[in-house]
Amino acid sequence: MTATADGSGLARAADLVRHLEALAAQEDPGARADRELMRLIRAPGRVNLIGEYTDFNEGWVLPAAIDREVWIACLPWDRPEVVLTSLDLDQTLSFEFDSLSPEHSGARPWIDYIAGTAWAMREAGLPIRGFRGVLNSTVPVGSGLSSSAAVEMAASWALAVPGAQRPAPPAMALIAQRAENAYMGVGCGIMDQFASAAGRSGQALLIDCRATESSTVPIPAELSLVVCDTRTPRDRLDASAYNVRRSECELGARLIGEHEPGVRSLRDVDEAMLERHFHRLPEVVARRCEHVVRENGRVMATVEALASGDLDSLGRLFAASHTSLRDLFQVSSPELDVMVEIATATPGVVASRMTGAGFGGCTVSLVSKGSEESLRDRVLREYPSRTKLTPMVHIAAVVDGAGEIDLAGMAL
Ligand code: GLA
Repeated sequence: MTATADGSGLARAADLVRHLEALAAQEDPGARADRELMRLIRAPGRVNLIGEYTDFNEGWVLPAAIDREVWIACLPWDRPEVVLTSLDLDQTLSFEFDSLSPEHSGARPWIDYIAGTAWAMREAGLPIRGFRGVLNSTVPVGSGLSSSAAVEMAASWALAVPGAQRPAPPAMALIAQRAENAYMGVGCGIMDQFASAAGRSGQALLIDCRATESSTVPIPAELSLVVCDTRTPRDRLDASAYNVRRSECELGARLIGEHEPGVRSLRDVDEAMLERHFHRLPEVVARRCEHVVRENGRVMATVEALASGDLDSLGRLFAASHTSLRDLFQVSSPELDVMVEIATATPGVVASRMTGAGFGGCTVSLVSKGSEESLRDRVLREYPSRTKLTPMVHIAAVVDGAGEIDLAGMAL
């Protein structure tokens, strides 16, 4: 797949290409950074409209890829090695294909998202190629907008051997998820990689996380997506809290499955079944299960409400999701709660909730076109006085999934 860059993309592309040419010339003055060989990749982050913590329970999610993106410019070479400069961090890191191993101790540096993707691609039998590259990202880290999935998807394009057959986006997403699960040690589901791989401009994706299939759900033209960043990024410790949530859900499914033969995961549990077995579950596990079972229902109801333009229902569904994530799943934070409160009280805001894994990060709001700036003004005015933090408000465009941009056709 190739894509073209818009105006701001052009400026960004030119900047990346210039940096890569300068680095290549500096490192090997004899060689010429050949534009013909150079590749340019972009992979978006995502915002999840609804369906939180349902993906690893084989349920449904409704994310959209947004214009917060990771870009890589690279020059493939014959060495089995990747050397990559993060322009944001002004740091160059590298890894060799021979030393790829999921075994590790201590913290993982950012390059390991690329190394993990290389490892997972090789495990899946895909050929990979080394490169010298530069990376730049506008996806805030740890904010629930899937910065790591965007890096993995960008890596999956940069590492691919040009001309080799590429797996379809859902299959590639599963490979990138493996990088995150087995290499980085985070038991995430498939949503983030899937959305970054398969996103469609102007559409949300209804993903069936058991079948790993999706259908598109148009976002009504009269609504904008506004992402408000609480500026409280989650940290590594929260990755272990995430993994604990996953085990609690799996335990719930197992305990219910002891009495209900058809139950493989919480996807197979409906509200009546949950009620029948509620008393058998440890209290915390019961709460987690209640969230997941009801959240699956809210995803389907949201798809219907979007289709029929039922704004009141959208508001109620987002509110119920947020409350459930706060009280039953316990992954919200005081800052996220304040952000949702401010948004909900703003005229023109249709629906608002925390988005992504929580423990800090961002909220997502559906806002009537024309009211985006009132939400921004209100958040910039009220949030700092209530939290002593400076928020960021992003009116998000919904974009296509990851791909390679045709450099040849660009006048850089
Ligand atoms: C993170 C994970 C996803 C998903 C969400 C919660 O973004 O990477 O797989 O579980 O949290 O919905």
